[in-house]
Parts: sequence; structure tokens; C-alpha cells
Amino acid sequence: MSSAIPPIHLGERHAPIPVGPLTGKRTALRRLLARSLATLNRTLDLLPPGRWLHRRIRRSLTLTDLQLPLRRGHHALNGLRIAFLSDIHAGSFMDASDLCAICERVAAAEPDLVLFGGDLVNTRERELLLFRQALPLLRPRLGMFAVPGNHDHFWGPDIGLWSAFLQELGVQVLLNRGVRVQHGEGSLWLCGVDDLTEGTPDLRAALLGRRTDEPAVLLSHHPDFFFEAAAADVELTLAGHTHGGQIRIGGRAPIHHSKFGYEQGWFEEAGCRLYVGRGVGVTVLPIRIDAPPEVPIVTLVRTPVPSRRVEQVVAAVRG
Ligand SMILES: [Fe+2]
Repeated sequence: MSSAIPPIHLGERHAPIPVGPLTGKRTALRRLLARSLATLNRTLDLLPPGRWLHRRIRRSLTLTDLQLPLRRGHHALNGLRIAFLSDIHAGSFMDASDLCAICERVAAAEPDLVLFGGDLVNTRERELLLFRQALPLLRPRLGMFAVPGNHDHFWGPDIGLWSAFLQELGVQVLLNRGVRVQHGEGSLWLCGVDDLTEGTPDLRAALLGRRTDEPAVLLSHHPDFFFEAAAADVELTLAGHTHGGQIRIGGRAPIHHSKFGYEQGWFEEAGCRLYVGRGVGVTVLPIRIDAPPEVPIVTLVRTPVPSRRVEQVVAAVRG
């Protein structure tokens, strides 16, 4: 799939809404329910229908080509390509060989950056081990970066082990922090925040160090964090969490994961863009209907001002 111009859907305009009620820890009961469902799924995974579901999910994955025109930044950023993998849910009908196949496909697309948007695992810390062979297959020139999702927090109150494991495999964890990514003479501020529902996101900390002349790209597992990002003039927010509804009937998803309707695709607020990826894996139910898995690959477009136009502007200024 490819598109020269991003298919921007102007999101319904809202007054800034405080996100306070969305934050806070899930109850022990909800965690227990998620773990129980995961146990049921693991049992199904061992049966022949489980193997069929693995293959079905793997085969339906698409690499979605997107383009993002930049409002600021050096023209050297033109053509930089970002692969965005979210909601892999390793351990939920996603084993080590599935992960290797997915990473091989992404590596073949030769992105400059690989970003992980959270929910790398489903419910257990040992599910991270499934990434051991797969992650080294990705060798993007500018590195790999990740933020946690709600499921990455499920195994316990401390995200330190999760972070340490990924760091060891060459993935930098952007837990409320940012880094400058240099691309030729251009640079962008790449940052990430903790999960909105299970963690403690801090955008101010993530943007510390950003220069006004460079675009900022933010990783946030939950798309509803986009309000805060747009208010801070973040050029691009990449989010997941919704799985595009995962199960859509008649074009609508019965279960909503975004209070603001950020279910899938492009949205815009105040000139800032959000892309909500449908994600790679599944959770709770081992099926997807009308919401195929995807890995968006975003190409940054920053065209230099034509020299003739520069001369006209200079002439106009000189009078
Ligand atoms: Fe997810």
C-alpha cells in the first residue's frame, strides 16, 4: 500500500480535555482477567487451530507506506524512513519464528529508524525472550527505540527489567526522555513517554533538549496522549494500543480504546499529526476482523525552498 499524500482525516476538534481521569493503576481484578484470558489463549495456541491462527496473523501483515510533509527542519531530513511496530503482543499467537519473519520483512524495507510503540509482550516477562533472535535481524542505520505499553507493565510494578532487556538487545528505551537523531546536516528530536493508563507519562521531560528549528517525533503507546503532544507543537506522534479496533463489524469496532475516536490512521490537531497504527499482534481474542495487522513505514518529506522563490523573497525584502 502506498500514498504520495498522507490521507489526513481532520479529527473532530475538541477543547483541551484534562487527561487525569484516564490515568491511574488498573485494579488487580482487571489484571487477573487479562492474565486468565492469556492463559486460555496459550492453551488454544498448543492446539491445531492455534497454529492456523498464527499463520493467518502472519500472512495478513502489511507494510503501509506513508509520507509526512515536515513544517520545519533541515532539508537533509527529506527521505528519512521510520518503521513503526506496535502491539506485537509476543506470546499471544506470536512466537519466536513469527517475530523473526516479521523482522526480516521490516529489515528488507531498509528503514533508517525502527520504533516500537509498546505492548511488545502480552502478560509475562519471559515473553521478552522470544525477541532474542528477531531483534538482531533489524539493523537500522539510525537505531531502534521503544516505549512501554499497558501490557508491558502487566508483569509487575517495575519496568526496569523490561527496559534492561531491550537495552541489551540494542533498543534504546525512551521512558520520558528524548534523543537527537542526526541525519546528514539535519536532525530531529525523537522522544517517548510512558503509557497513559499504566505508567506515568511526562512530556515535559521527554521534550527537554528539543531545539525549535527541528521537528519532534513522539512515541506514545496510547493515542489519547496526542492532545498534550499537539499542545506542545510535536510534529508527529506515533501511537498504537487500539489495534484498529481488532474486530470491526460493519465498519465499526464494538470496543473503543480511545476516548477521542483515535482508532486508526491519520489525525491532525493544530498542524500536528498523529498516526495510530493497527499494530502487529492480537490480544484477548486471537482474531482480527477488518483490521489487518500493519507496520507503517513513514517517509519524511522536507523539500528545499526553490532557489527562484528565495530570490523573489530576497528581492521583495530589498524593496
Ligand atoms: Fe496492544
